[in-house]
Amino acid sequence: MTDNNAKVWLITGSSTGFGCSLSEAVLKRGDRVVATARRPEQLSELVDQYPQTVKTIRLDVTDLQEVHDAVQTALDAFGQVDVLVNNAGYGVLGAIEEISDEAIRRQFETNVFGALNMMRAVLPTMRQQRSGHILNLSSVGGFVSFAGAGIYNGTKFALEGLSEALAKEVEPLGIKVTIVEPGAFRTDFNGRSLALPDQTLEDYAPTSGQMLEWIQEMDGQQPGDPDKAAAAMIQAVESKNPPLRLALGADAVSAIHEKLESVKAELDAWEQIAVNTAFEGVEVGAVGRH
Ligand SMILES: NC(=O)c1ccc[n+]([C@@H]2O[C@H](COP(=O)([O-])OP(=O)(O)OC[C@H]3O[C@@H](n4cnc5c(N)ncnc54)[C@H](OP(=O)(O)O)[C@@H]3O)[C@@H](O)[C@H]2O)c1
Repeated sequence: MTDNNAKVWLITGSSTGFGCSLSEAVLKRGDRVVATARRPEQLSELVDQYPQTVKTIRLDVTDLQEVHDAVQTALDAFGQVDVLVNNAGYGVLGAIEEISDEAIRRQFETNVFGALNMMRAVLPTMRQQRSGHILNLSSVGGFVSFAGAGIYNGTKFALEGLSEALAKEVEPLGIKVTIVEPGAFRTDFNGRSLALPDQTLEDYAPTSGQMLEWIQEMDGQQPGDPDKAAAAMIQAVESKNPPLRLALGADAVSAIHEKLESVKAELDAWEQIAVNTAFEGVEVGAVGRH
């Protein structure tokens, strides 16, 4: 039986990892899901198990037509979209100088423009509904940068900047935005999904090279359980006051604390120089306030 009060989720990258765990978890609790993948045949088990409440469709988030088709599928099947999960993404590793222009652009196309495509396609529906929740899978690397992950960090910082502004734009319209910042979780991220640098330069062996080794060694050993991450994301969606940022994993939490402290210490140390830069006699207000 379909519960018509059940939420409708649209999830990108449902084939493996977080997207797979989350699709299964929300279906298990009785919600309805448009599960998407570049190879939708990977989702056939979900269809067998939940024939009434799951719809699947091919979706590469870089293909605008497929993006609009996925949103339309949700509307045709279930009449609404309550939760969009921008999960599809991958990591390019290597020093900034080591990665080709093409690989950099591909990384931004998926992690930034792909998520942006989805948000912009779903917003007219959510605005009309005056409700909805957008979950954007960023990373601890969307708040803290690491040597050897600069391009990936750039995409996730961009996603966080977009999400933070969007949250302020759509909050008065009844729509919520949550940025999810996982640490290391046991998915395909460190394995088949990883894009390695086109060349490696000896000068970066102690910085980027070390990171690359660590990430690859960590494959299959990551402490984070994607099923538990899915449960935490559901809890955030169900919360009366969902967080703007949801860090996941003790590793993410401690790296974010460390960054906040170092930013605060540096801001304090340079404050006198920073604040003495206005024209004489001009009063300075907060950014963006009249
Ligand atoms: N696992 C971690 O430690 C970790 C930490 C922080 C953030 N994240 C973020 O979590 C998200 C999910 O990754 P994961 O850890 O679950 O890794 P994963 O198991 O490798 O899953 C990645 C998913 O993204 C899909 N994908 C990649 N490019 C796509 C595109 N152009 N269009 C549609 N789907 C695409 C993949 O589809 P295919 O099956 O077709 O390749 C797959 O379903 C990513 O945004 C990642 O940056 C992961």
